[in-house]
Amino acid sequence: MEEHTSELRRVCVTGAGGFIASWLVKLLLSKGYKVHGTVRDPSSEKNAHLRKLDNATENLQLFKADLLDYNAIEAAIFGCEGVFHVASPVILSGISNPEVELIRPALLGTRNIFKACSKTNIKKVVVVSSNAAIAINPDWPHGTIMDERCWSDEDFCRASEKWYCLSKTMAEREAFKLAQENGLDVVTLCPSMVFGPLLQSNVNYSSSLLINLLKGSSELIETYRSGAFVDVRDVADALLLVYETPTASGRYICSLNQTQNTDLIDMLKNMYPSFKYPNNIPDKNEANDLSSEKLKKIGWKCRTLKETIDDSVKYYQEVGLLSME
Ligand SMILES: NC(=O)c1ccc[n+]([C@@H]2O[C@H](COP(=O)([O-])OP(=O)(O)OC[C@H]3O[C@@H](n4cnc5c(N)ncnc54)[C@H](OP(=O)(O)O)[C@@H]3O)[C@@H](O)[C@H]2O)c1
Repeated sequence: MEEHTSELRRVCVTGAGGFIASWLVKLLLSKGYKVHGTVRDPSSEKNAHLRKLDNATENLQLFKADLLDYNAIEAAIFGCEGVFHVASPVILSGISNPEVELIRPALLGTRNIFKACSKTNIKKVVVVSSNAAIAINPDWPHGTIMDERCWSDEDFCRASEKWYCLSKTMAEREAFKLAQENGLDVVTLCPSMVFGPLLQSNVNYSSSLLINLLKGSSELIETYRSGAFVDVRDVADALLLVYETPTASGRYICSLNQTQNTDLIDMLKNMYPSFKYPNNIPDKNEANDLSSEKLKKIGWKCRTLKETIDDSVKYYQEVGLLSME
């Protein structure tokens, strides 16, 4: 990885208190970066873990910023050499107004970030997109592996009311468009469903699906048909890797190979025989597999799913998240 002088190593992370961003902030602080983290409420208990991270006292500064508030975003980005844009609403059910709840914050947030970056001498922007911006494409030949050339079909997402997927696809496309218009260096990372131990005290959406599966719910398997997972610590590594690799460009899928539903349940039953598991689940996943070859070529390494599940469950047990009230 490239060596920088400490003067240059100041970066901004949006949505710093979230599941993925917290691991990224921890990694950046451990590598000697100075971090400007944006959060919507710096005094909230849900962001308290950030101040307890190693090196946080000296090198982490929290900024109050909603993605819709341009001035707050610009203040957080000012003085940085790079930005990791992680924040975006993660809402997959109970959506009554998709425009307000998902699309506007994802899209206007991206516009505000890029506007601030173009005004403040930012050298590189890394955007967290998702496999949701890759995989929802009925035209991609069934049974063939999806790579970074595949984009989710916005019309199809709209017609099938996959609002989260639509928000991620529109935001990622917007990021590339604005980067080109403003001469900015942008790289996007598209993780599949992310599991792993939590640093934050509240439970984020993807972690809740694994916790509920371990309590007998079939929601994960019913709502997420792709069977593609990745460890949160490997996502943080990938974000730093694409940031520090000068030749990194375009999109990067970040995922393990697909796991079939029955293999997942069999693995869990072997690891934790006393837990409850859902019955009558479909054997095969409907979606095409994803390839992370492009990311591996620049040096990305990842944990096995078994290791991720093992560490996740140890953490859930430690903090009582698996107790059946
Ligand atoms: N977890 C996964 O399986 C997965 C997979 C692929 C991609 N991703 C992407 O990874 C990113 C982080 O997700 P996560 O899983 O870490 O979920 P998370 O813990 O729910 O993080 C989402 C973050 O976005 C922030 N946010 C939402 N709306 C905002 C707004 N209007 N203004 C400012 N901040 C706002 C939230 O802040 P508050 O705490 O203030 O609400 C939170 O910090 C998202 O872009 C998501 O699409 C996640």
